[in-house]
Amino acid sequence: MAEPKTNELMEKIVSLCKRRGFIYQSSEIYGGINGFWDYGPLGTELKRNVKYLWWMDMTRMRDDVVGLEATIIMAPEIWRASGHVDTFADMMQTCKSCKKLVRADQVWDILVEQSWVQSLASIADVATQSFDGEALMRWADGKGKRLVPNLALVRNPRVTLSWLSERSKSSKQAPLSAKEFYQYLATEQLAATGLITPCPYCGGELTAPRPFNLMFETWAGPLQSEENKVYLRPETAQAIFVQFKNVLETSYQKVPFGIAQIGKAFRNEITPRNFTFRSREFEQMELEFFIKPDEVIEAIAGSVVKPGESHPGEPQPNWGWEAWHKYWVEERIRFYEGIGLPRTTLVEYWQKPDELAHYARATVDILFKFPFSKRNEKGELMGEELEGIAARSDFDLSQHERFSGKPMGVFDEELRTAWGKLDEAKKKELWQRYYEARLKYLTKTAKSDETPDQIDKAAREDADGLAKGQYIPHVIEPSAGVDRLILALISNAYHEDQMPDAKGNMETRVVMKFHPRVAPVKAGIMPLLKNKPELVKKALEIRDTLRPHMNIFYDDAGAIGRRYRRQDEAGTPFCVTVDFETLEGAKEGPLAGQKDTVTLRYRDDGKQERVKIEDLLSLLMAKIR
Ligand code: GAP
Repeated sequence: MAEPKTNELMEKIVSLCKRRGFIYQSSEIYGGINGFWDYGPLGTELKRNVKYLWWMDMTRMRDDVVGLEATIIMAPEIWRASGHVDTFADMMQTCKSCKKLVRADQVWDILVEQSWVQSLASIADVATQSFDGEALMRWADGKGKRLVPNLALVRNPRVTLSWLSERSKSSKQAPLSAKEFYQYLATEQLAATGLITPCPYCGGELTAPRPFNLMFETWAGPLQSEENKVYLRPETAQAIFVQFKNVLETSYQKVPFGIAQIGKAFRNEITPRNFTFRSREFEQMELEFFIKPDEVIEAIAGSVVKPGESHPGEPQPNWGWEAWHKYWVEERIRFYEGIGLPRTTLVEYWQKPDELAHYARATVDILFKFPFSKRNEKGELMGEELEGIAARSDFDLSQHERFSGKPMGVFDEELRTAWGKLDEAKKKELWQRYYEARLKYLTKTAKSDETPDQIDKAAREDADGLAKGQYIPHVIEPSAGVDRLILALISNAYHEDQMPDAKGNMETRVVMKFHPRVAPVKAGIMPLLKNKPELVKKALEIRDTLRPHMNIFYDDAGAIGRRYRRQDEAGTPFCVTVDFETLEGAKEGPLAGQKDTVTLRYRDDGKQERVKIEDLLSLLMAKIR
């Protein structure tokens, strides 16, 4: 059947999420609160499964990653050291008329979604610059007044249209772009103000962009004073950096090793949008993986290996940051595929040098092709960020060392021994490279009272540390958003197909094709009839056998076909039905004549098979792992 259009698809997904209890608007009975979402019974199970699988993959199935669970509110100095107080900001514009705030880089994306723009499109073709002035005047006086009261075209149509007509008649200038066209409609006094960018919501004038810090502030203690000001963490990562030494000393780990954390993060997003994709409260799953600097690897292993195009395989002692970075990119893609996001829905986007954070050596964003993603010229979905995997150098630990005054470096006996065996030329070369990297970092982050001599001395001391086996670890950071992943899994799972109803007539069914590993409910357990005590007894026995091992749903209400449909919409991969053949013996097939068998129905194709009750647990466990 034809694929639904993207907006239509998003509407269906949002409606299913509410109808089936995946996601609700927070505080809905009070009109909701923008940018906050609650997970219902099915959403909660889905989320728990995703976090559990991430935790298993990232920590328990590995020897080199341990966990951390830190507080949401931490010492505010942490956010000064990390740069969040000074630079964690989005550029924002305010409407001078309706006072709404809009993220500067989203003005046009939001504008094209507005009903006034869509209504204008029917009387003015922006692409060909053809419009009927009289029709625009009538629109301004009618629909325009209602939909976009502060647009210059609505407030003063004659003057505004005169600028637009003059400009579009000019043969000397290039044709107007779509943006310019709307700017003309928003500009009443061209000579005095220049072109104005309209507020997407009311058409009023937007202020020039200015930075808006995204951190939520509150106070720790009874006094709402500057000293008591604290922040809700905007990422979970910083707690990992500040507890690095504690974890190192108490976990028997040695670099390379990682610390993983799952937890809430808060960002006061200016324009939360696209359902849960950009929320103000969300969860992150972050790993900070600490590695030796390349100079240290070279001293110990003789050389640093360059990664190829594919997965570099099992970690090796001669891996520098590039091999580790490539490894984590590949591991993360493997994870997503393993929970049911096909490779074709993912995009590996390598940030360009001018997009990189100043401390990052490389960052790969893993994008998922959401239904609301923009399309390229070929009409293909381009994808939105699910996760970023950044090679963050030694920036974070160095910052916390400088701001806290506590050493963040490690001692490495292997390095000290290896250094002693290097020839003088190699020592000099590695010393120089390490010194230059430290000098660059220290110069960039120098405080106003630090002199070049002091900075140079500090960089030399750091490089001298190599001979003593000391260095500050570098970091590779795979950082994923739980809520975005849930939305990706829901978008990917949503399908509509045709299935026969009880009378054999084809009907449209909505089916959530979750991978069994993430599916909120693994199996629906159903007695064919609820008024037959023998059937109910067996079904309850099966429920009690399976329940300790997986989330099941016991359903005895209504016709069996309707019960299957309910489970299809919930994304339950298997249904187990206890019927008369269970009691009397299977009528046909390999188990013909045998009692204590059940029907196992598969969600995706509706196929059914008979299996022995005693085999059910192992059979299902093999499928949901
Ligand atoms: N420690 C690095 C860091 O926080 P980020 O790219 O800002 O990097 C990491 O965030 C991930 O967190 C993103 O890839 C995304 O999945 C998720 N995320 C960030 N902001 C979000 C928001 N407002 N709503 C939902 N998820 C968000």
